[in-house]
Amino acid sequence: MTADVHRRQSGRVTMGRDMSLYWLIKHLHMAMAGLSLVLFVLRAWWSVTAPQRLQRRWVRVLPHLVDTVLLAFGVWLMLMLRFWPHQHPWLVAKLIALVIYIGLGSVAIKRGRTPLQRASAALLAVLVFVYIVGTAIRHHPLSWLG
Ligand code: HEM
Repeated sequence: MTADVHRRQSGRVTMGRDMSLYWLIKHLHMAMAGLSLVLFVLRAWWSVTAPQRLQRRWVRVLPHLVDTVLLAFGVWLMLMLRFWPHQHPWLVAKLIALVIYIGLGSVAIKRGRTPLQRASAALLAVLVFVYIVGTAIRHHPLSWLG
């Protein structure tokens, strides 16, 4: 279902200011999602090839900032559109996948004992990320297949 249909259905985000705020928050949410993925892949790469780089200050701080803003904008969109998880299975699927993504990400960057463990977790995390984007775009728990 397109965002336009949702906007009309929700009756909340309609015209003018609401609409441009929705557009802005949604695009910032998407931009943060892209940046979050880039920063994750970079750190996952370093965790296998050059772990000492993970100790740099910006590498430890920036991804957390970006992820916090990403999640905050996600929650903001949810409130603005009045999309409640119990009414939207895709949102529940997205949030569950997000928890899995965070877990895999932590194995990929911190907890994985061997480079192979870390690389495998990173690969799975990217797949889960792709699934999350699919749920958001298709509004379906089957993600790209929905
Ligand atoms: C890794 C985390 C996340 C990623 C990669 C992600 C990705 C996306 C993308 C790409 C869109 C745009 C979809 C479109 O084209 O219509 C989107 C929209 C949205 N996201 Fe997220 N998101 C994430 C986390 C969250 C979280 C935590 C929430 C809520 C708590 C959330 C709620 C929403 C909502 C409500 C929309 C608006 C859907 C619409 O306009 O129809 N997102 N997300």
